[in-house]
Amino acid sequence: MDKKYYIETYGCQMNAHDSEKIAGILSRLGYSPSADEFDADLVLLNTCSVREKAAHKIFTRLGQLKKLKTGKPGMAIGVCGCLAQQEKELFFKGRPYVDMVFGPKNVSDLPSLLEQMENGRKQLLALSGPRQEPTFEVDTVLRNAPFKAYITIMEGCDKFCTFCVVPFLRGREISRDPHSILEEARRCAEEGFVEICLLGQNVNSYRYDHFDFADLLISLHEIPGIRRLRYTSPHPSDINPKVMDLYGSLPKLCNNLHLPLQAGSNEVLKRMKRDYSREDYLAKVEYLRQRCPDIALSSDIIVGFPGETREDFARTMDIVRQVEYSGIFSFKYSQRPFTTALKMEDDVPEEEKSDRLAELQQSQREIQLRLNKRMIGASQEVLVESHSRKGDAMLSGRTGCNRVVNFQGSDDLLGKFVQVQITDAGPNSLQGHICSL
Ligand code: 5AD
Ligand code: SF4
Repeated sequence: MDKKYYIETYGCQMNAHDSEKIAGILSRLGYSPSADEFDADLVLLNTCSVREKAAHKIFTRLGQLKKLKTGKPGMAIGVCGCLAQQEKELFFKGRPYVDMVFGPKNVSDLPSLLEQMENGRKQLLALSGPRQEPTFEVDTVLRNAPFKAYITIMEGCDKFCTFCVVPFLRGREISRDPHSILEEARRCAEEGFVEICLLGQNVNSYRYDHFDFADLLISLHEIPGIRRLRYTSPHPSDINPKVMDLYGSLPKLCNNLHLPLQAGSNEVLKRMKRDYSREDYLAKVEYLRQRCPDIALSSDIIVGFPGETREDFARTMDIVRQVEYSGIFSFKYSQRPFTTALKMEDDVPEEEKSDRLAELQQSQREIQLRLNKRMIGASQEVLVESHSRKGDAMLSGRTGCNRVVNFQGSDDLLGKFVQVQITDAGPNSLQGHICSL
């Protein structure tokens, strides 16, 4: 009988893509996907540790899986991803029901772990050191979206922002051989993928000998069949004029960019060790907007970092209003293991953090609504990606600037590009109707 797997993914796009690689490996081993954990022989939690809340969830979830396993002793439970790398064998402590733990750079060890497990070995551990070369090439990737392919171009991070646990879990920056990236992209194009999103913790630091990130974008741009290029995430201090000049000159490079600000006060940025000032950041925004006036910028913002005063927070709000992001991910600061900020006093009271977050999110909602309403009447090229959550016969897609658009249309349009006239807008999505195919 076929074995079934269920993967639950937490955290960022890198993690989501690791799950696609894991699914590919499992399908090659004869496993098929299960819609939920109840029916699965193997349950994997692909974990995140970037914020305390994300890490907390995993332990709660494991408690639930333990109960399930009591009635289903044959079920295997694995924990992988960043929290696995952080907790290591501690995950097994007091949890005899956890069968395997493997880190983000050990996805390719999965077949061997499963084989050892079948031979009766228990509580298997596979982790990597910070400088270990990851296996970038995985034969089969079971991609979640049929038209959009995520491709890893680098692993790890060397920035060591003082709040961030990532460099301690994903290790040092290692760039992938461009031949291998281009080959994967060509294969995706041949299989019908029309959009490529390049992934890395810090994509702009990509460098392989003399071949840098801009060179990579230029080479990928030449692949026939690929119509949209995106990437995430760049670091504001590494995005250089060579890359910024590509906006407006490479037509396939989408006019959206995630440029994490984190904070708007120079004092806080310094304590975060972000390597740029608010003036540097705003100068890059201006440069980008000169090259590509309709570029949609999005951001990550942390409120309540140690020592953040009301005045510091007002400086963040000031940038948010000036830049007018098309979307933000916003978080309350939480202490993370290994980080330098752990030594700073977490002195902004929880209630104050919540107030700042609410204020930021309220303003951002208004900005998004205003920006989205400005698009009413415009015609946008949309890649049709899925059925809309809004209901039957409704499709959902994304503009080049990465805004979600809902409109009426038939299933045969999935994966195609259509022109949509925007007729209405909310803070998180646009509505429209197809004006031409
Ligand atoms: N507390 C709150 N937010 C954090 N992030 C990273 N570390 C922390 C932390 N300790 C946020 C940053 C980052 C995003 C992925 O998560 O904004 O860009
Ligand atoms: Fe979470 Fe960071 Fe790991 Fe992504 S790389 S899963 S955000 S800890």
